[in-house]
Amino acid sequence: MRIVLLGGPGAGKGTQGDYVCDYLQIPKISTGDMLRAAVNAGTKLGKAAKTVMDAGDLVSDDIILGLVRERVQDQDCKKGFLLDGFPRTIAQAEGLAAAKIDLDLIIEIRVDDEEIVQRMSGRWVHPPSGRTYHSVYNPPRKVGLDDLTGEPLTQRDDDQEATVRKRLSVYQKQTKPLVNWYTKYADANVGASFTQINGVGDVNDIKLKIFSLLS
Ligand code: AP5
Ligand code: MG
Repeated sequence: MRIVLLGGPGAGKGTQGDYVCDYLQIPKISTGDMLRAAVNAGTKLGKAAKTVMDAGDLVSDDIILGLVRERVQDQDCKKGFLLDGFPRTIAQAEGLAAAKIDLDLIIEIRVDDEEIVQRMSGRWVHPPSGRTYHSVYNPPRKVGLDDLTGEPLTQRDDDQEATVRKRLSVYQKQTKPLVNWYTKYADANVGASFTQINGVGDVNDIKLKIFSLLS
């Protein structure tokens, strides 16, 4: 099963991606998490990416495509994988198709902008795993600590309101056109489907809605 989760910043791609990956026992490939790992490691890529990410812009298609093409060759991807936050431009989707990486299921999680701005201020993440919590809607068992490892949670530098609004506008301009692109992709490829779901509501209800698409 090869799955793509599309959706604006804070739509719940990371949260729902973890549930799907646990359920199907496939890896989650989050380009955002990969970039943040490079930032933390202080690599050349990380240094360049940090400036772009803090501005709410997109890292170049070439760099991202290189990262993903390499990652999907890994042994753990043989059974399938879930792409979280990739592709985010038509060029990235075309690059994936050109590399003959076919997809089974593309889901867009839809959430209104104002709801997203509200959500981001309460987000807490466990950087090594990408596990995501919300202080009100999806709290960790112990305040400030990851459920599985007990390690401290942090807030993301790009979650300030002004940056979130910039990321929302970048989503509308550069990523939203993929809705049309993947609608056509699903029409042209037997076995591929594209679905839009409402991402507002209880985290568990949304999970069940996504699980129902997997069978
Ligand atoms: P990335 O890390 O992918 O960020 P994003 O797309 O902006 O999405 P987020 O991770 O912010 O949100 P999410 O949808 O995962 O939501 P989450 O589950 O955490 O990318 C960061 C940056 O890296 C980009 O801006 C760009 O610079 C660069 N980048 C990454 N990929 C790239 C690419 N392919 N090309 C170019 N550049 C790239 O949920 C959010 C919060 O809401 C959490 O607190 C969660 O607990 C809570 N929540 C979840 N569901 C619900 C619910 N139903 N109700 C209430 N709260 C909820
Ligand atoms: Mg995420």
